[in-house]
Amino acid sequence: MIGVGVIGYGYWGPNLVRNFAECQGAAVRMVCDLRPAQLEKVERRYPGVRTTTTPADVWNDPAVDAVVIATPVQYHFDLALASLRAGKHVLVEKPMTSTSEQASRLIEEAAARKLVLMVDHTFVYTGAVRKMRELTEAGELGDIYYYDSVRINLGLFQHDVNVLWDLAVHDLSIMDYVLRKQPVSVSATGLAHVPARPENIAYMTMFFDGSLIAHVHANWLSPVKVRRTLLSGSRRMLVFDDLEASEKIKIYDRGISLNPSPENVYQMLIGYRAGDMWAPQLAVSEALSVEAAHFVACVRDGARPETDGEAGLHVVRLLEAATESMAHQGRPVPLGSTVHS
Ligand SMILES: NC(=O)c1ccc[n+]([C@@H]2O[C@H](COP(=O)([O-])OP(=O)(O)OC[C@H]3O[C@@H](n4cnc5c(N)ncnc54)[C@H](O)[C@@H]3O)[C@@H](O)[C@H]2O)c1
Repeated sequence: MIGVGVIGYGYWGPNLVRNFAECQGAAVRMVCDLRPAQLEKVERRYPGVRTTTTPADVWNDPAVDAVVIATPVQYHFDLALASLRAGKHVLVEKPMTSTSEQASRLIEEAAARKLVLMVDHTFVYTGAVRKMRELTEAGELGDIYYYDSVRINLGLFQHDVNVLWDLAVHDLSIMDYVLRKQPVSVSATGLAHVPARPENIAYMTMFFDGSLIAHVHANWLSPVKVRRTLLSGSRRMLVFDDLEASEKIKIYDRGISLNPSPENVYQMLIGYRAGDMWAPQLAVSEALSVEAAHFVACVRDGARPETDGEAGLHVVRLLEAATESMAHQGRPVPLGSTVHS
């Protein structure tokens, strides 16, 4: 049985506690939050789980094998590092850290101690995103031309991170998992409509080697909620609409074909293909339950998680570069190669 301690019981923490409480092979031993009122909720709902306002209690408890961190991002690094130093495996919320340097540091610490370090890139564990990867890997979409996502709503204005760190982070984790390619540079523009607050609207473009481009539009100040992603390839195109109750993924057998002109061999004629659309069957399990089971299995078997520290680092590097680009009205920021691979 893997003993789990959870630090941070605000909005997202309860989802993690519930899924680990229901996860076979795991037992929630302790929940930590700075706010006693939050802990009262834990005590009422999970009478056997100990509570504390002191993170060190979690690190000092020998019944805790793994720590799950669900605090605001600015505390992720210190809490994760201290957990690893206490010999605990770590599952940390997205985005993994506030800087790529911190992310690298956590990767090193976990590797040196042979501990599991995993990031909660929740979308990776959804049936929809797993299907996107399966179709892409099987070549069903052909060569991927673009990833284009809109993630907007009237959202909670965060005071510590801009909208890219809150919303685009999901697209970056999906791209990391589905495309398995790292952008070579990033350009972003955005604006803050509330003085002294981070940008609440942003447009982020990522350039890759070859003919692939990606774009994410994230906005907390939209009258409507949209969660729509297009993944377009040379053979087929896919639309992922997360707000659809069923049929979240639709595949379109549509696109263009290039044919040499009969009059001029150097000229290509564009032919249009408008074929069928279909919606594949998707796994319906709650993403966090799949993810909790995966984390527990990795801890038990000493395996590498699908969303490991490297995946977390890839995403933080992009967010960092995008924030730098935004400060310079979209100036492209090159991305050096990842230190680890
Ligand atoms: N994976 C997802 O889809 C998803 C969704 C929402 C939030 N999140 C992530 O979860 C994290 C938390 O977000 P939230 O919306 O729950 O925030 P929140 O502010 O609602 O909750 C954070 C909680 O952490 C507690 N806390 C802060 N510092 C602490 C410390 N040092 N020790 C113990 N407790 C501490 C606070 O008291 C608070 O209750 C963020 O990283 C966020 O990005 C992920």
